[in-house]
Amino acid sequence: MLSLSGISLPRLVAIMVVAGLVSLTILYCWSSTPNNCPAPLPNPKQQESYSAKKSDSLTGTAEDKPILLLWFWPENYFFDFSDCKTIFNIDGCHLTDNRSLYDTSDAVLIFHKAISWDLTNLPQSPRPRFQRWIWFHVESPTNTRKIPGLENLFNLTLSYRHDADILVRWRVRTRKKPEEDFVVPKKDKLVCWIVSNNAASTGVGTRNKFYEEFSKHIQVTMFGKAYANFLDFNEYYPTLSSCKFYLSFENSIHKDYFTEKINGPLAVGTVPVVLGPPRKNYENFVPGDAFIHVEDFPDPKSLAEYLLQLDKDDVAYRRYFNWRKHLTATPHLIQQTQEFILPICTACDYIARHREYKEAHDIYDWYFN
Ligand SMILES: *[C@@H]1O[C@H](CO)[C@@H](O)[C@H](O)[C@H]1NC(C)=O
Ligand SMILES: *[C@@H]1O[C@H](CO)[C@@H](O)[C@H](O)[C@H]1NC(C)=O
Repeated sequence: MLSLSGISLPRLVAIMVVAGLVSLTILYCWSSTPNNCPAPLPNPKQQESYSAKKSDSLTGTAEDKPILLLWFWPENYFFDFSDCKTIFNIDGCHLTDNRSLYDTSDAVLIFHKAISWDLTNLPQSPRPRFQRWIWFHVESPTNTRKIPGLENLFNLTLSYRHDADILVRWRVRTRKKPEEDFVVPKKDKLVCWIVSNNAASTGVGTRNKFYEEFSKHIQVTMFGKAYANFLDFNEYYPTLSSCKFYLSFENSIHKDYFTEKINGPLAVGTVPVVLGPPRKNYENFVPGDAFIHVEDFPDPKSLAEYLLQLDKDDVAYRRYFNWRKHLTATPHLIQQTQEFILPICTACDYIARHREYKEAHDIYDWYFN
């Protein structure tokens, strides 16, 4: 037992002085700007876009980086893990698909669609106490198989949902230095729409019904397999930018579910016309003056009339690009085989920054309701 009698007076005074100094420092740090005080935690590494500067690669050896094991290659779309560094400047984890590293992996990324109904293709050996499993799913609930037995198996969720642990989407970002000289690209088409998958099972009923009525009142240039007007990936951005408006119609309507269909037009200087969750939901991620929402109009005909009017009014049309002065949208990766690069790299970035204990319970309750 430590007793006061064992401490000499000068020592006691010294202890009190030190304690006083420490509390003064803390008070000072509280009341002043954070810059004056040592940061409590190392700064998280910034996730940056294409144009961002490359950081040096000597930020720790492979051994001290957490290991992220990709259990399945989604849809067998392989890519080089070093793409995370080259494309997004994400370099904080050791990504691997080598299942022999299971026992030492800090996290395992498991692609929902690849899980077999009987769960036999999941890792079978016991899960190390430190290891977290990530539920990796980027489809909407309409297009999700409810494989039984997964409800309480995971620690983290990766999804487009804003309340997922690992949120994946192409984000509009702020820019500190205003862009003053944006020029609207040359336009030779009014409204365009690229339809890649029109299978009824994916929930396309709402958008098709809207389109059927809408296209009676305005000309829409269609692209895609279904229209014998297939666009090669390198024609995607040039074509998109040559249209005044682009129909960013989602196949099914769910909270937070809007895809790169809106990012493409935003990135190239075309006005997206969106059909999906309510306008307010879009505005959680995209400025309200950057897009037109079908629900802003009582019916498809009024929307068509508004677009025709904007076609004749350059000043009003240009207002849809005001947001670009302080914000920027990054072109997303467009080849089909690149579809999962962003989610996988984002998971890597997350694992590099977070080690908290977590259990994700009743994932279907969360996902479907
Ligand atoms: C996978 O990891 C094990 C253990 O480190 C190693 O022996 C093996 O060579 C690796 N396999 C591949 C294909 O890299
Ligand atoms: C991960 O989740 C499982 C299932 O809920 C749980 O048993 C395990 O302790 C969790 N582990 C970590 C490291 O969060």
